[in-house]
Amino acid sequence: MMNLHSKPIDVRGRTPYSIEQFMIPEGSSIYIKEILIPKGEVIDRIEKLRDEIAEDYKDKDLFLLGILQGAAKFLFALLEDFPYVYNHQLIETKSYDGAAGGPVKVGAINKEMLKDKDVLIVEDIIDRGKTLDSLIKELNNVPRSLEICTLLDKPNRREVDVYVKYTGFIIPDEFVVGFGLDYAGDFRYFPHISVLKEEVYAR
Ligand code: IMP
Ligand code: MG
Repeated sequence: MMNLHSKPIDVRGRTPYSIEQFMIPEGSSIYIKEILIPKGEVIDRIEKLRDEIAEDYKDKDLFLLGILQGAAKFLFALLEDFPYVYNHQLIETKSYDGAAGGPVKVGAINKEMLKDKDVLIVEDIIDRGKTLDSLIKELNNVPRSLEICTLLDKPNRREVDVYVKYTGFIIPDEFVVGFGLDYAGDFRYFPHISVLKEEVYAR
């Protein structure tokens, strides 16, 4: 089978969809401004990422490390009907102060478990790059190999450079919710990657 390594889909400069154009949960229209990437496109793209990962790791010992909570939905979508055996774990990362620019604390990882594994970190979105930079430093020289897979990337916001092998979509510098991504714990359930109305932040 042909396995071309795909380029991320760049949705910057693409006209967003209106909430009237797709099915949305009842009661959510008062919060959502517009839809950046509909769920169907997210799922199609994840299928391609899964195929690339499955091909690249077929002779390796794949261990997927998902970052809670945002990447949980992406991780399980990525692993649906995965063609061979693998291991996975979900871990927590937190900003010490919760503030933008603050240092990032990585939750307990059983490093012993990752030795001799080919670890693929699965993240929902890369923004400043600090979360992944901290995690990579924490895991330095522990697994046999270490790569990153992210559903979304906001490269315009990057403060720390990180090499990302698999990227779903490149998005503009806007705060997005849906498909597992939240704002203050809300809107994770929203099916499409979307932008919130300004009023939501002013609540
Ligand atoms: P950073 O790359 O260290 O700045 O942080 C990335 C983390 O910030 C992600 O794992 C998300 O939890 C969160 N984040 C950044 N941008 C967004 C967004 O647009 N929506 C939801 N969460 C976001
Ligand atoms: Mg996250």
